[in-house]
Amino acid sequence: MKECVNLILEWYLDNKRFLPWRMDLDPYHVWISEIMLQQTRIEAVIPYYQRFMERIPTIQALSEIDEDQLLKLWEGLGYYTRARNLKKAAITIMEKYGGVFPREYQEILSLPGIGEYTAGAISSICFQAKEVCVDGNVMRVYCRIQNLDLDVSNIKVKKEISLQLKKILPEDSGSFNQGIMELGEVICIPNGQAKCEICPLQRKCKAHLLGKENSIPRKIQKKEKKEEIYTIFILQYQDKFAIRKREEGLLNNMWEFPTEKGKFTLSQVKKKFPQNLCIKKAVTYQHIFTHKKWILYSYYIEVSTMIEHYSWVSLEKIEKDYALPGAFQPIYTFLQKK
Ligand code: ADE
Repeated sequence: MKECVNLILEWYLDNKRFLPWRMDLDPYHVWISEIMLQQTRIEAVIPYYQRFMERIPTIQALSEIDEDQLLKLWEGLGYYTRARNLKKAAITIMEKYGGVFPREYQEILSLPGIGEYTAGAISSICFQAKEVCVDGNVMRVYCRIQNLDLDVSNIKVKKEISLQLKKILPEDSGSFNQGIMELGEVICIPNGQAKCEICPLQRKCKAHLLGKENSIPRKIQKKEKKEEIYTIFILQYQDKFAIRKREEGLLNNMWEFPTEKGKFTLSQVKKKFPQNLCIKKAVTYQHIFTHKKWILYSYYIEVSTMIEHYSWVSLEKIEKDYALPGAFQPIYTFLQKK
């Protein structure tokens, strides 16, 4: 494995991608990028990261940002708790560390929204700490190199891999951590796509030498996602649409077109909105979250008055100022095309 460590380091130093958060080792830059990169692909993150840094260039600015503006910048990235935790952590850094990002692993780990993976990434990349950061990519690369047929969804397996990697971390822990992650992202990829012919470890990787790279790590049957059914009411009055802020549960504090549980029939919708001038069925679609699947039906309803309790906003203004989560983007697109 020692030889593999050096090969990964060399490969990374020669091949690392030019990414906006790699221009320096500023922990603010690395922190924001690592949080955005959780659950999201690099190419998708780049424009979000650039916009974020233009608008919120410092920890102090983040600690003072209005939450609606922050969520608007995060719109489409999903997992919005991540954005709220960023602000909470920035406030902690201002209050507890005088605005300077802490250097110690344990201090970093204690910030809101920062788990072992992110604390390991920031402390190794920015402060050369001997810490690992183990994600799905890292586990896949490690298991293939060692030909380990393990269930990487098991937390004990993750802990064991972290322990083993910690033992072999080189001095430049940050480059090694980024190298093994990047190898997993661009070469040692899942789903039968591994590019072993261009891999720096092709002569060392036990799974490859045995022709088993695509069956390691073993695939675990994913649990069926729980389905929930909703109906969305797209209410229009002149050039304005009814939206409201969600006040609980998933996507709390994000904006939505009024949505209710269940599948409504046309006559139920007519009864619910007696102010209607015209009702039409609109789009039906699904939205998939980590643990849930939403089935969404929608009705377009022109109304004769601005019904109370909603905010009435034009499409242009929604686009500019209101954070509309991905689950409602098909409605926005439907209205734009209309
Ligand atoms: N994926 C997530 N964080 C990364 C990093 N710092 N380098 C390479 N790939 C990553």
